Amino acid sequence: MSLKPFRRLLSLTPRLFINHFWSILTSILLLSFLSVWITSSDQDDNKCTYSILNDFWNNNAESLKEFGWVSRKPQKKILIVAYMRSGSTFTGSIIQSHPDVFYIFEPLHALHRYKINSKRYRSTTFLLDGPREIDDVSSSDEMIQLVLESYFACDFLNLDLKTLQDRFPFLTHRHAAFSECVKANPGMIGVTQCLDTLYQHCSSAKASAIKTIRTSMFVARNMLLNDPNLKIIYLVRDPRAITLSRLKLKRKEPHMSAYNKTAINLCKHMLEDLNVWITLKQEYPTQVLGLKYEDLATNPFEVSRKLFKFVELDFDVNVESFIRNITHSDRDDKCITCTHRKNSSLASQKWRNDIHAIGAMAVDKLCEQVNSMLGYKPITDPIQLFEFKFKLSYNKEF
Ligand SMILES: *[C@@H]1O[C@H](CO)[C@@H](O)[C@H](O)[C@H]1NC(C)=O
Ligand SMILES: *[C@@H]1O[C@H](CO)[C@@H](O)[C@H](O)[C@H]1NC(C)=O
Ligand SMILES: *[C@@H]1O[C@H](CO)[C@@H](O)[C@H](O)[C@H]1NC(C)=O
Repeated sequence: MSLKPFRRLLSLTPRLFINHFWSILTSILLLSFLSVWITSSDQDDNKCTYSILNDFWNNNAESLKEFGWVSRKPQKKILIVAYMRSGSTFTGSIIQSHPDVFYIFEPLHALHRYKINSKRYRSTTFLLDGPREIDDVSSSDEMIQLVLESYFACDFLNLDLKTLQDRFPFLTHRHAAFSECVKANPGMIGVTQCLDTLYQHCSSAKASAIKTIRTSMFVARNMLLNDPNLKIIYLVRDPRAITLSRLKLKRKEPHMSAYNKTAINLCKHMLEDLNVWITLKQEYPTQVLGLKYEDLATNPFEVSRKLFKFVELDFDVNVESFIRNITHSDRDDKCITCTHRKNSSLASQKWRNDIHAIGAMAVDKLCEQVNSMLGYKPITDPIQLFEFKFKLSYNKEF
């Protein structure tokens, strides 16, 4: 091997170094500062919040205790287990339109973000206990169960700070007072000052409902074990529709391999959940209900009535008005996360015009088992996609 290029580079290096001395020095300093900051900030973060908490605790212990220890829990608990892009926002919004329901939208949102930064967030800080080491916060079933059960029991003091500070679950108009309060009192201490608003709302509600796309059926099963007041709604949707909707989030014309990748991932999760679900149906027949998004979108009033009967709440006039508003809406929201639809039945089928036929057939193949368990029909000819008379979903108890 010739060393010539190397020698040339070496002879060049001193000049290069001198010319760029200051930029190189700054870069080195910046990099070392960053690495020290990244490795230590989590601990500092915890230490710092811990001491603030101590001060806070000393100053407010009495009121905090008083507020936390009164156990007025709502009797009914409703957990909607769903998948991303399965119509869960739509379904959850119908449940929350009942005036007696305290509704939390995606309470695991903050935990899920730990996952993205899992190196930094191996430990987390709890409001009452301070920092605690948790092996992998995001995928810890215990942690997920703790967050869900704390929300159900109005025990906000049991939550970790990241979850408490996450405003995402409270972006609905029913939580406007809490959201406004958090905005006016930023930071961790601010949040604790606002919890009372949330607590009053939660503890006076007849039912608490949670909608989540971040819980496995395995966790849902653990929660059912000791809780006769818990009801689970398992929301599913045609895997072809979910796949296309997820691909559209990326806003690029999807390559065929993207269909496969998305469908494989989706139907692996669905199959795992369905295998647990089969046993739950047998063990807790009155506490669990399988729901197809297509059925709700096609017959919103009839199916919603069934839903409210299942959770043992009356079909309130507010609910009826709300459903009319979102399913026969004058405005047809263009945004993909909005729930208002001119014609919800039509909206739930729109994907059939947009999906690539070869992609749809690949999803059918990759999700074969899930489809037959849930009653979704594979297409045998691309023309069937555009013929809405051709039903892609048939009645099947699951
Ligand atoms: C996608 O999956 C289908 C069904 O298994 C298969 O026939 C096809 O070759 C796959 N396509 C790609 C691009 O991986
Ligand atoms: C339905 O829409 C009407 C008109 O915009 C509004 O007055 C009413 O409050 C809405 N109902 C519900 C329950 O949101
Ligand atoms: C919605 O669309 C479906 C299917 O095209 C149609 O049968 C139904 O009458 C429409 N509903 C309304 C309220 O326009």
